[in-house]
Amino acid sequence: MKKITIIGTGYVGLVSGAGLSDFGNNVCCSDINKEKIELLNKGVIPIYEPSLYELVNRNVKSKRLIFSDNVKDSIQSAEVIFIAVGTPEGKTGNADITTVLQVAELIGKNLNNYKVICTKSTVPVGTGKKIIDVINKYNQNNIEFDYCSNPEFLREGKAVSDFLHPDRVVLGVASKKAYDYMKVVYRTLYINKTPLIQTTIETAEMIKYAANAFLALKISYINEVANLCDEIGADINIVTEALGSDGRISPKFLNPGPGFGGSCFPKDTKALIRIAKKHNLDMYTVDAAIKANENQKIRMLNKLEKLLKGNFNKKKIGILGLAFKQETDDVRESSAIYMISGLIKRGANIKAYDPIANDSMKKLIPGIDYKLNWESAVEDCDAVVIMTEWNEFRGIDLSKLKELMCSPIILDTRNILNIIELKRLDFTFDNVGRK
Ligand code: UDX
Repeated sequence: MKKITIIGTGYVGLVSGAGLSDFGNNVCCSDINKEKIELLNKGVIPIYEPSLYELVNRNVKSKRLIFSDNVKDSIQSAEVIFIAVGTPEGKTGNADITTVLQVAELIGKNLNNYKVICTKSTVPVGTGKKIIDVINKYNQNNIEFDYCSNPEFLREGKAVSDFLHPDRVVLGVASKKAYDYMKVVYRTLYINKTPLIQTTIETAEMIKYAANAFLALKISYINEVANLCDEIGADINIVTEALGSDGRISPKFLNPGPGFGGSCFPKDTKALIRIAKKHNLDMYTVDAAIKANENQKIRMLNKLEKLLKGNFNKKKIGILGLAFKQETDDVRESSAIYMISGLIKRGANIKAYDPIANDSMKKLIPGIDYKLNWESAVEDCDAVVIMTEWNEFRGIDLSKLKELMCSPIILDTRNILNIIELKRLDFTFDNVGRK
């Protein structure tokens, strides 16, 4: 196994570091943020990710996982270094790789023996070359090193299982030595027949964007099919069941909803279009996926307006779900933001509840009434909107819901409620493709 340092203990770095230590490597997760490292050394996990606490704990106990704010030392003691810092969306829609290049400079300045430098962060195609150039610029003693692009495919809320049981590991390398090092790092997966895809650096960078953009496209496609089902009276659930049973399509990522959110799809689709533009190419399909996604958020607000006969003023609306999807407290680009902002603009009074994302949304939209349970969020409301597919909301007792509300109107943007029950209880309702 290898001595590994992960630079950046955010969502990708922490999960990857803990996962790599679980594979038997000795891992140091390092970060310049001293508070974060202090919390981690006290056993406090600063992000919500199911089963991450157990994974970290297990490996800290077996002394395969440590945390340090001394990035310099953790660079010098490593055989393999993973760059796992944030690459947020820049002003022009490009991914901002400033922090990645700062880390590359630090690595160049502290190279003391052969290492493989690996980028986990999602970076535009061609960034690998820039990272190598920066390291070389500061590599005073001309120490030998290799580079590897090893993109992550982690979903929030499922990141630990996605890391421990990936469909494939992509390794973009320019030397056999680098590949051999990475094969040792991922040996646990390799001996369990997880495909290791060895390719060039640029190809590995491209795979990440192509994967995310395709998944976003698939979601926008099924959302538009669902919208058409609304108009012709078809049932999207049966449509997706039939589509999904075709092996070429697969049943996954065919759930219609209020539009995709999160820190990846919105950012990566725009970044891919920017990369294409730089090479004088248009990506009409990805462009359409972004446009369809924006339209989906508008469509949800219009559906609610119709249910309330065009009048939002002073109406009491209960929003159930704030996170961009279930099993996360992350509200970045959540469709709930567009829904709530639109309702505020139209004079509605809003109560909101999310099992774990209340505090995250409060930072963005402080001025609404956040409740600690769904019952108080719906009490005395003129209408309720389900924005996130939490299992808690799937199990809501609809007769109790009706009693609590002052008018039985509900918009289920995740198609999680039983429409037979809704009809039986005389709800006025709408959803996405299940008229
Ligand atoms: C995504 C990719 O799945 C992951 O591989 C990549 O590494 C990071 O970006 P993430 O953004 O965490 O992961 O969540 P994901 O489960 O992909 O959902 C993204 C958005 O699409 C959410 O808003 C979700 O509600 C929405 N979605 C997903 C749908 O609307 N329908 C679906 O069928 C699936």
